[in-house]
Amino acid sequence: MSAQNEPIDTITWRCPSNIALIKYWGKKENQIPCNASLSMTLSKSFTEVTLQLFEKKSKEGIVLDYFFEGKKNTLFEERLQKYLKTRKEDFPFLKEHSIIINSYNSFPHSTGIASSASAFGAIALSLSDASRTYFKEESEESFLRNASRLARLGSGSACRSLYSGFALWGENKSVSGSSDEFAVKITDIHDNFKQLHDAILIVESEPKKVSSSVGHSLMEGHPYAEKRFAQANERTSRMVKVLARGDFEEFISMAESEALTLHAMMLTSKDYYILMRPGTLTVIEKIMNFRKESKIPVCFTLDAGPNVHVLYAEADQNKVRDFLNNDFKNCVKEIIFDKMGDGPRKLIS
Ligand code: DP6
Repeated sequence: MSAQNEPIDTITWRCPSNIALIKYWGKKENQIPCNASLSMTLSKSFTEVTLQLFEKKSKEGIVLDYFFEGKKNTLFEERLQKYLKTRKEDFPFLKEHSIIINSYNSFPHSTGIASSASAFGAIALSLSDASRTYFKEESEESFLRNASRLARLGSGSACRSLYSGFALWGENKSVSGSSDEFAVKITDIHDNFKQLHDAILIVESEPKKVSSSVGHSLMEGHPYAEKRFAQANERTSRMVKVLARGDFEEFISMAESEALTLHAMMLTSKDYYILMRPGTLTVIEKIMNFRKESKIPVCFTLDAGPNVHVLYAEADQNKVRDFLNNDFKNCVKEIIFDKMGDGPRKLIS
């Protein structure tokens, strides 16, 4: 691509990552989830995407260059090419413009924090923003909903990152307007959960041996699949009520059981595998003991990897932070102190 040209337009969006409390694990065609899921959007762990639009010489094909942290990344560029090819009607400007995407993560690559949620969130927002002039005046709400749908088509969990606080993805009777196509914000939140913290304990920073895509596919024909999907849907409804009621006890038992159930699915799939490491179990046990002894409502959750997310209320942040800093020095590589965030935002370039 001719880098010497000046861009016609430059659009930058920052989108945070999210941590699921009720897990999405198993999907159908077109990134339709097998069950509803619910997550908390983070604050400090985000991706920033800058999209530049250029005059396109030929009207044929999609012309894209993708850079991650300043370096050309052909693997992700190919994934994006494929994604854009199937979304031509959503991004009509791609007919007239070639694009360059520059992406940066706020968190070091080596932490193993899943970046596809924040990356696809920021990419979908930037591309949707560039398409705005082609569509009728949209409300902010429908812009976000559409961007959430487009983020989902890139990476399922990304669709939940488009909202501040808590988001739900998947049709579920507890929230009217919920859908398999996009996520919605959960608005009825008790004060207890309004400023939840998430300390991410990095146990292992190596790339995962089995990708989430493979993990999702192993739910096809999994002996416990149907029970698991029903359980997650029921728990999603229950979690929505728990968040409104401010019930920490039930929050903790559901969040922890979800984490262990997710990994149990991996352990019991046909091609079984283990993503937890010995350090993961050490951390989990320490958290459970600390809760028992201190009576502080703190709990753990996991995503598809060995690192542990520790959740606790704003009111307990000093005590929990001291405990984590003192007791985990020797068993984790790093601790990232994050918390619930305000959702994505557009940056003025
Ligand atoms: C364990 O969203 O990464 O984090 O749709 O294939 O991109 P794809 O999968 P992805 O799966 C995330 C799974 C999870 C649970 C969750 O975030 O709900």
